[in-house]
Parts: sequence; structure tokens; C-alpha cells
Amino acid sequence: MSIVLNRNLLAGFIEDEEYLEIESAVRQADRGLREATVEGSEYLGWLRLPEMYDRQEFERIQQAADRIRTTSDLLIVIGIGGSYLGARAVIELLGSRYYNEYASLKIYFLGNSISPIEMTKVMGLCEGKRVSLNVVSKSGTTLEPALAFRLLRKMMIERYGREEAAERIYVTADTSRGALKAMATQEHYECFGIPDDVGGRYSVLTAVGLLPIAAAGFDILKLMDGAKAAMLSYDQETEPLNDCLTYAATRYILYKKGKLVELCSCFEPSFTMFGEWFKQLFAESEGKNGKGIFPSSLIYSTDLHSLGQYIQEGERLFFETLIQFKRLPVDITIEPEADDFDQLNYVSGHSMSYIDSKAAEGVLLAHVDGGVPCMIIELSNIGESAVGELIYFFERACAVSGILLGINPFNQPGVENYKLNMFSLLYKPGYEQRSEELRKRMN
Ligand code: PA5
Repeated sequence: MSIVLNRNLLAGFIEDEEYLEIESAVRQADRGLREATVEGSEYLGWLRLPEMYDRQEFERIQQAADRIRTTSDLLIVIGIGGSYLGARAVIELLGSRYYNEYASLKIYFLGNSISPIEMTKVMGLCEGKRVSLNVVSKSGTTLEPALAFRLLRKMMIERYGREEAAERIYVTADTSRGALKAMATQEHYECFGIPDDVGGRYSVLTAVGLLPIAAAGFDILKLMDGAKAAMLSYDQETEPLNDCLTYAATRYILYKKGKLVELCSCFEPSFTMFGEWFKQLFAESEGKNGKGIFPSSLIYSTDLHSLGQYIQEGERLFFETLIQFKRLPVDITIEPEADDFDQLNYVSGHSMSYIDSKAAEGVLLAHVDGGVPCMIIELSNIGESAVGELIYFFERACAVSGILLGINPFNQPGVENYKLNMFSLLYKPGYEQRSEELRKRMN
């Protein structure tokens, strides 16, 4: 296993007895997952996915990814929430934020906003380029991606004609239902399924994430193998609790002590989108019935010079989970300079990653002194396998955390409220009655 949970800095915030007090509840929550007896157990497909995934579809994903890479300069992935964040998180973590600047296949993500600026800019990038589309929507009815797909599909048909456009459009949708699936069948778009028992935010290891990640050139088999290693490891009932369950237990204990916000921090800017995926996973899973830890993500050193002041001295609402990579794919050593104008010779001979590790220690110690409990999730490296492990670690810990809170971690009823209002305000057929009422309130 590449992941180790380091809790050394929690001393003084949590006593060993506090873990013992909730240990049986934590074990029971995890057992409930494995035995599918928990609320929402119809959405537990993600739990065994690293082992039970459809090998034939996996092969088709690899082939489609190869085809996209040879026939296209640019892939637009249309989707929102769980139908978008995982793919982008993995691509940027493995390939850096500058992935598109280096890659022969550029990947852009649309349908996660209703911004005409974003749409116009990305359409502009398509000029003179060979383009493929991957539209991802489990329901097929989410307005943001549906709108983007309508516009981009038109662009594709005008440019390539219906037949060639059909060879360049890939649909990832519910396996059997929905408007998108029906259109894909009628228009002969290659279609990939999202299993019924896997919810959006738990779907990165299905075609939802795997097709864009494979198209980006990353090894999705290694990703799945990493997730499988985590699954097998966390299936063991160990003494003491394994790291995944200990992380869930720690979050719960700290929440009960009034630490309502989790800061998921990292010193690697390429983790930015993974932080967004983390936020969605935990917010949609836990934020229910007036409960839940508010998940936030920070990138250091950037955020030390913005949010850092608040974290150090503002309201004491936080605990921190730092994600740390023990080995980076590259490093740079600082050389001494004879004049030492910038007076930085004291760090000469050190690598940037060493300096970064000392910055991390300094930050954590300062935050602990400021009353912020901190733990570290250490990963051996940034590679497909380790990232697969991390995805599974968070998915399982999130499910256990939700069960400990007494909520169903697999639904998201609150997301419907804004949709209902938006549809009413746009006079979607069937929503007329609510429209007038809402319009009056806005004026
Ligand atoms: O986790 C979830 O279920 C959501 O975030 C969905 O992924 C998101 O709302 C997009 O839904 P859909 O894939 O149906 O367009």
C-alpha cells in the first residue's frame, strides 16, 4: 500500500480512549457496507468495482481512447459534478495543470457551467483542429451538460456531417435509461455505461473517468489495480483499525468537538482539481439533515498567503488533512551563488522538495499551535496506482463517515432544490405554477 495515515500531530487533540469509544460503531459501519445492510445500499457498486468491473467494456474504453488519440487533436469532455470532476482531477494530478500545453491531445471540460464565455472560448480552440466529444451524464437530463452537448453536437454535425460526427461522439450514460442513451442508440454514437448501482460522485473508476483518463494517455489498468489493492487491504478487519477507518473515525471525533470544517491541503498545485473532487464527494455525501463536515481544499504555498491568516487566528472551526507525496517525479537542487545577493545560500544544496517538506512541517506545527488538529495522508508517489488507492481510500472513508453521522451518503436530495427553481424560472413545461411565485419573490 502506498498510503499511510500519520496522526502524530493529533496528540493533545484526541485521546486514545476516544477512538476506543467509537471503534465498534466504525467497524459496524464498515461491516454494513460490506454486507450491504446500510441505508442506500442499492448504490454500493463502487465498493467492489476495482475487482468486479466489466472487462469487455474496459477493453472498449482502451480502444476508444486509442482512436481518440489518433484521430483528434482535441477532446471535449462534457459533464458536471461526479460526471466531470474525477476525470479532470486524475488527469491534472498525473499530468500537472499544464497538461494541455504539453499533450498532443488537448482535453477541455465543458458543461460544468452555463457560461457563454467558456463555450465561445473552447469552440474557438476547436477551429482548425480535429475534435472528438465525450458527453457524460448518468441521468441525461442535467441542464448544464445537456445544453453544452446541444451546442457542440451542432458544431460537430456542421463540421463533419452526421456520419463522421457520429464516429467522433462518445456517450457515457446510464446503461439502459434516459434521453442521452436513447439519442446515442439512434445516432449510432459509441456508448459506455454507468452502472445503476454506482452514483455520480463514486463513478470515477467507471467509463465516466476512465475514458478521458485513458485518452489523456494514462494507464487505467494501474489506476484500477491501485484501487483494488486499497479495497483488499481495507476489507481486512484489522487490529487496530486500518488507516481508512481511522481517518473516518478521526473526522467523526473532531466533528463532535466542534471542528466543522475540514481543510484538505496539499503543497502540489497539480492537486487542485483533486481537491475539487474531494469536496464534491464529501459535501454531497455528508451534508444532510443539518449535519456534516464542510469540506474545503487548499493549495500551499498559495493559500498560506490568503487563507493562512484566518486558519492561524480566525474562528477555531477547522481540522486539517494534508496530502503529502513522499517522492515526486522530478526535483531541482538549489545551487550556491558566489555573491549571494538574495541571501538564499542557506538553502543551497537542498532540493526544492526538501525545502517544501520543511515548509509543510512549519505550516503544520504552526496550525497545531493555533489550535487546528492536523493529520497527514502520506502517499509514496504520484503515479496511477497510488492515485487509484487514494480515490478508493476517500470513497470508502466518505461512506463510513456518512454512516457514522446517521445519514445516507449515497443520495443528494438537496441538489434538486436549485434545479426545481431554475426549471420553474425558465418556464420548463410542467413547472409553470411555481414560476410566478418565484418571479414575484425576485422582484
Ligand atoms: O454525485 C452525483 O450524483 C452528482 O454530482 C452528479 O454526478 C451530477 O449531478 C451530474 O449528474 P448527471 O451525470 O446525471 O448529469
